[in-house]
Amino acid sequence: MSRRALILEELGLNPVWVRTAILPELQIAAQAVQAVAVNAPAPAPRPQGLSPVAVAAHQALAPLVSQPKFSPPPAAIPANDPVEDERSKRIAIMNWDELQSAVSSCTACPLCQSRQKNNEQPVFGTGPMQPSIMVLGEAPDADEIAQQKPFLGEAGKLLDNMLAAISEDSLVYKANILKCRTPNKRNPQAAEAQQCAPFLKRQIELLQPKSLFVLGRFALKTLLETDEPVSVLREKLQHYKQIPLVVSYPPTYLLRNLPDKSKAWQDLLRLKGTLTAPLV
Ligand code: URA
Repeated sequence: MSRRALILEELGLNPVWVRTAILPELQIAAQAVQAVAVNAPAPAPRPQGLSPVAVAAHQALAPLVSQPKFSPPPAAIPANDPVEDERSKRIAIMNWDELQSAVSSCTACPLCQSRQKNNEQPVFGTGPMQPSIMVLGEAPDADEIAQQKPFLGEAGKLLDNMLAAISEDSLVYKANILKCRTPNKRNPQAAEAQQCAPFLKRQIELLQPKSLFVLGRFALKTLLETDEPVSVLREKLQHYKQIPLVVSYPPTYLLRNLPDKSKAWQDLLRLKGTLTAPLV
């Protein structure tokens, strides 16, 4: 069995996540998409060592991945750019060191009070500059604050395994929309996300990731400024300032909702497609 198939099996994604009952539908859908995609590049090679079920799923999803024109980026910076206030403008011209230091000393929202009281440091993010993928989550937890790394624990392991299944390299940068933790891991509040957003936007600009992998509705809302749910926006490739953006479920959610792992696998294939699509 190939390494990829082994990883998928470990994730519980292979080969059981396509019901044999819908195999004929998948095959017909794959044929239909391939028939209209006359200008699409050749589909990705069929993975070796997979069961007929997994191969049919691969055939059904391959056209989604191999068509670089699936959803063309807008010609100009999208109109959802925020109206920037003075603070945002200052942050928007910071260099990397200035940005890190501004995050460390930020007092723009009430989360700074517990951070200062507990003598904690925000988690800025980890990974290389110009990464292939920038993963965006919601907020670090107490352990992640202590270790100064996002996405640790079971959820982090799941995320790493998922990314290893599609990524040829390890050029992954991980960060969150909130750099401080929320009390009792509660969801980020709109005002907190709003204050942290200029940091994140400058971070993306300086990092220049090839693709964004945005996990969960709070991260999504911050970047795309929309109330559309993950379940809708994950259906097609999005863009943030012309950077391909794939929406998916947070790994913490996937740990509790195993059936949705198959959807996350579709999202990963879409993400992989953004890394391999030729520049247009
Ligand atoms: N850990 C993070 O750093 N971010 C999340 O969104 C979840 C867990």
